[in-house]
Amino acid sequence: MNRIFSGIQPTGNLHLGNYLGAIRNWVKLQKDYDCIFCVVDLHAITLPQDPAQLKAATREVTAAYIASGIDPEACILFNQSTVSGHAELAWILGCLTPLGWLNRMTQFKEKAGKQREEAGLGLYAYPALMAADILLYKGTHVPVGEDQKQHLELARDLAGAFNRRYGVEFFPLPEPQIFGAATRVMSLRDGTKKMSKSDASDQSRINLTDGPEAIAQKVKRAKTDPGNLPEDLKGLEGRPEAENLLGIYAALTDKTMEQAVAEFAGQQFSAFKPRLADVAVSVMGPIGTEMKRLMADPGYVDGILRRGAERANAIAAPHLREVFDIVGFLRP
Ligand code: AMP
Ligand code: TRP
Repeated sequence: MNRIFSGIQPTGNLHLGNYLGAIRNWVKLQKDYDCIFCVVDLHAITLPQDPAQLKAATREVTAAYIASGIDPEACILFNQSTVSGHAELAWILGCLTPLGWLNRMTQFKEKAGKQREEAGLGLYAYPALMAADILLYKGTHVPVGEDQKQHLELARDLAGAFNRRYGVEFFPLPEPQIFGAATRVMSLRDGTKKMSKSDASDQSRINLTDGPEAIAQKVKRAKTDPGNLPEDLKGLEGRPEAENLLGIYAALTDKTMEQAVAEFAGQQFSAFKPRLADVAVSVMGPIGTEMKRLMADPGYVDGILRRGAERANAIAAPHLREVFDIVGFLRP
């Protein structure tokens, strides 16, 4: 059986990168797979979070899933902390994780920064929790952006380490599903930096809750270079802003990069940007409107999460019982 598991941290400011690099792909997958989409609040507290904002952002991510077209009946939507098995399995997997593997994780190095001694144990153990998320459901496929590939390889290695240590064929080795166009959406202010929730400049990203005027204005002000748009793909070399904007256009219109380049070959940015703005408004506008409607009805969103938690737990609990038995925990 094929089962998809993926998640997003409730840390605020969901943006076009989260949509094109993650959520949009999940919408397409729900027809063919049994899908579980999580709001990973346990992961969020690996860095300090304001408690009230954490709750609000948990509803915001859930609203984004639904507004983007994820069907909460067909898929399971829930927040991580409501299924205690995630933390329990993370402990067991953590006991099988060599420090050498964790020391290679580039995201830890980035997030810990220079104050390595101050970084928390949770931030360090983050990949073991992520492996537990997937393996708790025996997930087989994991759609994520490029940046999560290394964590996924660690999850595969941990599944193998568990099976070998106990001489079982219990966990499947999860496969990453990294998608083609626009898996890395870059900042609108700097084509060499990833579009990010944590960028101090709101102009650097299109938030999922931005209205049509804000979207159009951000596209209009997006950084460009002095040239015209290139005639072919090779012409994009060394032009990160042109590449990013054409990549966003291609992704939003479901075209290839070749088609997008051909469409605007030799034209000025001033001709291209209004087209990009129209496309961005027509795809992102309705999602933002629906998100705001859902966020104004927290009772509905909470109901989806509550039901999701029950369904998730119904899959997780028997797996965890088996894990406890394999590991040798007595159930007196
Ligand atoms: P994060 O915002 O880091 O919690 O990421 C949530 C999901 O969105 C992950 O699957 C990321 O790979 C994806 N993602 C985040 N930022 C971008 C970006 N700028 N471009 C493409 N995908 C992204
Ligand atoms: N670490 C992922 C991110 O920051 C979020 C995440 C947590 C996740 N658990 C997961 C993604 C399990 C896929 C599967 O984007």
